[in-house]
Amino acid sequence: MNETDAHYLKLALRLAARGAGWVSPNPMVGAVVVKDGRIVGRGYHRRVGAPHAEVEALRQAGAAAKDGDLYVTLEPCNHQGRTPPCTQAVLAAGVRRVIIAVRDPNPRVTGDGAAFLASRGLEIETGLLESEARRLNEAFFKAVTTGLPFVIAKAACSLDGRIATATGESQWLTGPAARAFGHKLRHQADAILVGVGTVLADDPQLTARLGAGGKREFGRGGQGPQAHLQSSPDPPPPTPYPGGTGFQPVTAEGEPVRNVEQPPPAVLSAESRENHQSELTENRKPKTENRFKDPIRIVLDTHLRIPLTARLLHLDSPAPTWIACTERAPAEKIRAVEATGAEVLVLPEEYGRVALQPLLELLGERQVQSLLLEGGAEVLGAFFDQRLVDKFYFFYAPRFVGGRGAPAVLGGEGIARLEDALQAKEIKFQRLGTDLLISGYL
Ligand SMILES: NC(=O)c1ccc[n+]([C@@H]2O[C@H](COP(=O)([O-])OP(=O)(O)OC[C@H]3O[C@@H](n4cnc5c(N)ncnc54)[C@H](OP(=O)(O)O)[C@@H]3O)[C@@H](O)[C@H]2O)c1
Repeated sequence: MNETDAHYLKLALRLAARGAGWVSPNPMVGAVVVKDGRIVGRGYHRRVGAPHAEVEALRQAGAAAKDGDLYVTLEPCNHQGRTPPCTQAVLAAGVRRVIIAVRDPNPRVTGDGAAFLASRGLEIETGLLESEARRLNEAFFKAVTTGLPFVIAKAACSLDGRIATATGESQWLTGPAARAFGHKLRHQADAILVGVGTVLADDPQLTARLGAGGKREFGRGGQGPQAHLQSSPDPPPPTPYPGGTGFQPVTAEGEPVRNVEQPPPAVLSAESRENHQSELTENRKPKTENRFKDPIRIVLDTHLRIPLTARLLHLDSPAPTWIACTERAPAEKIRAVEATGAEVLVLPEEYGRVALQPLLELLGERQVQSLLLEGGAEVLGAFFDQRLVDKFYFFYAPRFVGGRGAPAVLGGEGIARLEDALQAKEIKFQRLGTDLLISGYL
C-alpha cells in the first residue's frame, strides 16, 4: 500500500461514481489497469445489465493487462450470475496484482473473489481507501447487510427553520443552486417519499428535473402494480451483481470522492503524469450519461386523502407511484387510485398512521436501497422520532419566515429533554449560491 496505489484507486473511485443513480440495485464499481506506470485500461459499471467495471477495464487494456496491476473499488465477484464471474476475466487477463478497496459485504460473496484469486497465485491487497469505498456505496452496504433502505432526509428551510409560511407556501424557499442539488439527490435515490399533507399543499410531481440539457429516464419499469419487478426497456434486462444493491449518495460537495483531481504523487513517472492529465480531461468532459432518472414516488396517506387529480398520479414518467395507506382507506378509493396506474400499498397502522418500519421492510424487499424523504414536517418528524434517518441534507435560505402557524422542519413528537437530542455526526457545510447546505449522518 503506497501513494501510487492510493492515486490509482482514487481514480477508480472517481470512475465508479459515474454510475451514480444508474446501477442500483448493483453497487457502483470502478477499475483501472496499470502496466509499467501507465494506465492501460479503465472502466466502471455504467448501468444495470452493463459489464462489470473490471471486465470493462480489462477489455480496454487487452494484452497490455498481462503482468499489470488491477485497481478495483469493490472485490471482484466470484459468482456465476447472468454474466461469468469477474474473477475469471481477471485470471484470463494475466494480471499480476489486484488492489481492492473494500470487500463485498454480501454474505454470499464476502472474501470469496479475493481468496479465489489469491489461491491462483495473484498478489492481493485489500483495505486501501476502504472507508471512501464504503461511503461511496453507503446505501448498498446498508441494504445488503440489513435488508432496509438507506434513509436520507432532505428539507429546504428559512434561517429560522421554517419549511413553509403559515399559509402553507413553500415554493421556493431556496435558490436555483440548492434546487438543482435537490434534483441530483432525486436522481440518485431509488425512491422519494412525502406525506399526503405535502401533496395537498403543493401538488408536487416528485420527478428529477435537470437544468439545461437535462433529460429524464427511469430504469426500473413503469407505472403500475409490480412495476418494480419489471426489467427496463433501457437498459435491457438487469444483470444483478451477486445479491447486490447500490446507491450513490452525493456528499455535501456533490461528489462522492474528493481529492481525485489532486496532482499525482511525486513518485509517478512523467508518463504517468501525462496519463493522469488525460484522465482529468476525460473526467471534465460533458458526460453523455449525465441525464437524470426519476425515482419511484411514494406518498404516505393513511386514509387515501390524495385527490385523484394530483399531478403525481398523472405523470408522463416511467417511474411508478406507490401510495401507502392502511386498512382505514375506503376500498372504493383504493380502486380509484389504482385506476390511475398507481399502486396502493396497504400497510399496518401505528399511532393511527402508516407504520414506518413495515414500510421500510417492504421497500427493502422490493430492492429500494435508498429512500429520499422530502417532507413535510410531520413525515420528517415521524422518521426522526423513530430514529430511522441515516443521513440528512438541510438547505437554509437566508430568509426569515416566522409566524406561529408556520411549520418548523421537524414535526412529530420531538424530545422532552435536551440530553435525548439526536446528535448529528460528520457535519459538512456548503454554500450553494446564497443558501447554506448542512449535511451529515445520524
Ligand atoms: N420546504 C420544504 O422542504 C418542504 C418540503 C415538503 C413539504 N413542505 C411543506 O410542508 C407542509 C406539509 O407538511 P405537513 O407536515 O402538513 O404534511 P406531510 O408531512 O407532508 O404529511 C403528513 C401527513 O402524512 C400522513 N401520514 C401517513 N403516515 C404517516 C406517518 N407514519 N408519519 C407522518 N405522517 C404520516 C398523515 O396524514 P393521514 O393521517 O391522513 O395519513 C400526516 O398528516 C406544506 O406546507 C408543504 O409546502 C416543505
